[in-house]
Order: sequence, then structure tokens, then C-alpha cells
Amino acid sequence: MEEQMERLQKYMAAAGVASRRKCEELILEGKVKVNGQTVKELGVKIDPKQDVVTVNGKVLREEKHITILMNKPKEYITTVKDQFDRPTVMDLLKEDVKVRVYPVGRLDYNTEGLLLLTNDGELANKLTHPSFEIEKVYDVLVKGIVKEEHILALRKGVLLEDGMTYPAKVKVIDNEKGNTKIEITIHEGRNRQVRRMFAALGYQVIKLKRIRYGFLTLKGVSKGSYRYLTDREVKELKHPSKDSGKKRDDARPIQRGYRAKQTKRQKTSKEA
Ligand code: URA
Repeated sequence: MEEQMERLQKYMAAAGVASRRKCEELILEGKVKVNGQTVKELGVKIDPKQDVVTVNGKVLREEKHITILMNKPKEYITTVKDQFDRPTVMDLLKEDVKVRVYPVGRLDYNTEGLLLLTNDGELANKLTHPSFEIEKVYDVLVKGIVKEEHILALRKGVLLEDGMTYPAKVKVIDNEKGNTKIEITIHEGRNRQVRRMFAALGYQVIKLKRIRYGFLTLKGVSKGSYRYLTDREVKELKHPSKDSGKKRDDARPIQRGYRAKQTKRQKTSKEA
């Protein structure tokens, strides 16, 4: 029946093969067979319940998709296996997780907080694609008192070695024992981004915790434990509404962001 039919590349992406675009390439390269017949053109639809799809000779199976929201403790690495044998986030999963899931993006070894894991390739590809600008909120404990000019710099954009960061939302929560507690909201997912933003301004991050991912929070999930996302939550992640934490108010990074060194130089030239 027509409703059961699904585009081949969509089925492949959902089975975790790769992004839809990459799946299209695999089809065009002749690497995909449906019921033993090589399919080399796009637009073919299949019946996931009856047709057998193979990619490079391997049969794809329709798997029930699950997505897990974990509260990662620090000193766990966000990989499936660590070359140095450190504990990984997979070690925190119990027997109830019967399918192979993968972390969506990563949190550093020393970062805590909200981490998603899934076997839904389409969801993972979507959430990690640079064009997908979901809000990520972090609690940061910074060594020392962060100066007002540096808060403004974070709000404007900071120059890192891989380019200017987008404007961040920054709230100073508290100054405790000579350190500063800050809540920062970013939309990008660059490697060690928050730590590098503070380092670029001359600060060290003592503690970092992701407390929100779009509309998802850690509510009810204690450190080291996890819960399953509901179908509704997954749907909302795949097709975010305006209020679900995907949208930014400030669209572009400012081209001339903060450069700590330049400011010092400017100061010196003024003083001279
Ligand atoms: N920014 C970081 O510096 N580390 C993380 O783990 C996440 C965001």
C-alpha cells in the first residue's frame, strides 16, 4: 500500500547508515540493493516491512528507535570505546538498553550534564548538523572574577582559532569565593567551545555543566542516570516549533568580535 512506502534514502538514513545526502550518493554509486537488485537511481520507494535493503552487501534492519537523555557525570568520556580504557558514557547504560546507541555530539571528559544518545541516525545527523541551531545552556564556574567587558565580549562573539563565535546569552549568577558563576547559552557545537571562549579571554573554567538542550532539561534525571525521550519529544526535536529552543534572536556572528590582545594594544596606544 502507498502509505507504507518510503523513499529509499530516507529509510537508509533512519536505519543509521548516514545522512540522507550521503545515502543518495551511495545509491548513485551502485552500493545499494533492494531485494537483490542494484538500485542506481534516486526516487525509488520501498516497503520497509517487506523489502530487503542491503548497503555494501549488509542487510539493513528496521530497528526501533530510542533516544536517551543522560545526566553525564564528569570523568566519563563521550565515546563508545576509549583508547585509554577510561570509563565511557556507555558504561552507564543498563540492561534495559538492548540496542546500540551512540552519543549525539559530545561533552568533554570533565564536563557534566545533559547528553543525548540514540540509534536514530536521522535524528543524530539533524542535531549535529551545523545549520541546526538548537540552544545549549551551560552552568559555568569560572576561576576569578569575570570583568564586565569580558561578559560583553562573550555576548558579542569571541575570536577562536576556528573563527568568531556567535553571540552568546550570558547571565552572571553569582560571585562566590572569588570565582564567578555564569549561565551561558550558545547555539554552536564546536569542540570545547565554552572552555575555549573563556580561555580566549584569559579565564579558566573550573566546572562546566550542560543544563539544557533546546527544550530538554535534566529535571528528574540524577547524575549518572538517564531516561528515554517520549515520541513527542523526539518529534519536537526533529521538527522544532518556534518556542522549543531552536530559534536564536541574534542571527549572525559579529565580524569584529573580541580579541583580548587587540584590546590591550589599543589601550597601550591610547596611553602612549
Ligand atoms: N563546551 C565545552 O567547552 N565543553 C563541553 O563539553 C561542551 C561545551
